[in-house]
Amino acid sequence: MIRWSSILAAMAASVAVASAAPWDEKAIDAHVDRAAFVDLLAPGRLDELVKAGEKLFAAPFTAGDGVGRPFATQAILPTKRKRKPEQGFFRTPGMDATSCAACHNVPMTGGAGDFVANVFVAEGFESADFDSLDPQFSNERNTNHLFGAGLVELLAREMTASLHDIRARALAEARRSGAEVDAKLDAKGVYFGWITALPDGSVDLRRIEGVDADLIVKPFSQKGVFVSLRQFTDNALNHHHGMQAAERFGVRWTGEADFDGDEKPDEITEGDVSALTAWQATLPTPTVLVPDHAEWKAAAAKGDLLFDSLGCASCHLRALPLDSAVFEDPGPYDAAGTLRRADVDKTTRYDLAALPWAKALPRDSQGRLLVPLFSDLKRHVIADEQIAAFGNELLAQRFVDRNVFATSELWGIGSTAPYGHRGDMPTLNEAILAHGGEARKARDAYEDAADDERSALIAFLKTLVIAP
Ligand code: HEC
Ligand code: HEC
Repeated sequence: MIRWSSILAAMAASVAVASAAPWDEKAIDAHVDRAAFVDLLAPGRLDELVKAGEKLFAAPFTAGDGVGRPFATQAILPTKRKRKPEQGFFRTPGMDATSCAACHNVPMTGGAGDFVANVFVAEGFESADFDSLDPQFSNERNTNHLFGAGLVELLAREMTASLHDIRARALAEARRSGAEVDAKLDAKGVYFGWITALPDGSVDLRRIEGVDADLIVKPFSQKGVFVSLRQFTDNALNHHHGMQAAERFGVRWTGEADFDGDEKPDEITEGDVSALTAWQATLPTPTVLVPDHAEWKAAAAKGDLLFDSLGCASCHLRALPLDSAVFEDPGPYDAAGTLRRADVDKTTRYDLAALPWAKALPRDSQGRLLVPLFSDLKRHVIADEQIAAFGNELLAQRFVDRNVFATSELWGIGSTAPYGHRGDMPTLNEAILAHGGEARKARDAYEDAADDERSALIAFLKTLVIAP
């Protein structure tokens, strides 16, 4: 049913607060009102929100919008600083860019980034000295692309729901039987270890693998430590731009409308974050494009088989099945400081399966979308004593060990050089040879393969592209 009241409200919202002049040095001329964009399941209803998000993603923010955080740090938890730093822009602690697209632009807006767009990621708790070039205080990460990110978040949510369901059943069984119950953590065929439920209602988590004790699958950042696009967007806005989202830095959590002390209250509204989230969530999935070149075709076909036989597909799972592509924002697993379900009357809802690009995705026999991400959304030990390049960070993040990273999604990999979490490997060959730890066997099999086989594997990976 078309709800004219909400359509009219949306139109009014998008033209609400016009700025004084079109040449004003500001990126945001009107904030988005979240309440005007709740039920977006009807065709076309989503377009306006996505357009607003696209604009915000590419917008070079200025002081007129609220750029700068003179009295707050880049930390994820709202954290004050006593003295204004000497530099507003500062490559390591940020601000380090004026727009999201300044980094996410390879091969186009929403994409990955070259080495020059690397970010210095610090854990960001209160007492750290952030205005420093010392690598002890931050890890250097390369920009990854956001194509298909909405489906990735939905896959992770469904996997989390499965793990939580397994935990609940095991606990119920332990209570009922009065005995310990072992349960295997399996979500969409990905194995996350075992838990033991005890009759007293506690759970022994010592055998879990590749996931946190909260059993929430966290698909974002190369470390696999962030839950949602919404959470990441709140982090990024503050870190990179000093644009503080009201839902995290505003009155509800901090008691202040101008937490960063730059005399701009409520710099980013809930609706602005919803728009940024919607734009990212609806970016099309990368595709497979085999060039019209007989030898490349033959090599890619061979490489496609080698990808399995060498053992790459044991972590880089070709596809994961998705039950429902209806994206609800905020999602079910966000923590305090990101807008949560409990904070809103109605979520913003849209169906990713209705988008033109989603029609091209295959479905399995049960009608589920097969999302061809080439990842298991799980964390693995990826360095060892001999093959140590991926163990190069000095700082553990969110209690995840330094040599552990989430399996990279390889869709789009043909369009997103350079490679590795630091972006310091110009070729796929280097990135593959850098796999240690749990991937050591597959990596050694690649190294031991014949020249034409290694070349065929690269020919295959290069067909996984972000379509122009
Ligand atoms: C200075 C460069 C830079 C800017 C500016 C930037 N990003 Fe990023 N982005 C990165 C890097 C680097 C990563 C990878 C972080 C990691 O792995 O720890 C990343 C990762 C992400 C991710 C997670 C993707 C994934 O699959 O793991 C999201 C979402 C994201 N950025 C959104 C944004 C948004 C929204 C903005 C603007 C508000 C933004 N970024 C601005 C560099 C940047
Ligand atoms: C044990 C799980 C595992 C196996 C097996 C594995 N990988 Fe990976 N792969 C990872 C992880 C984890 C990363 C992230 C490494 C990093 O940057 O820290 C990664 C990263 C990559 C990257 C770089 C991605 C980027 O965006 O920079 C490529 C390319 C890649 N893998 C290809 C392969 C190929 C080809 C094989 C088989 C020879 C393989 N992988 C086997 C887990 C695995």
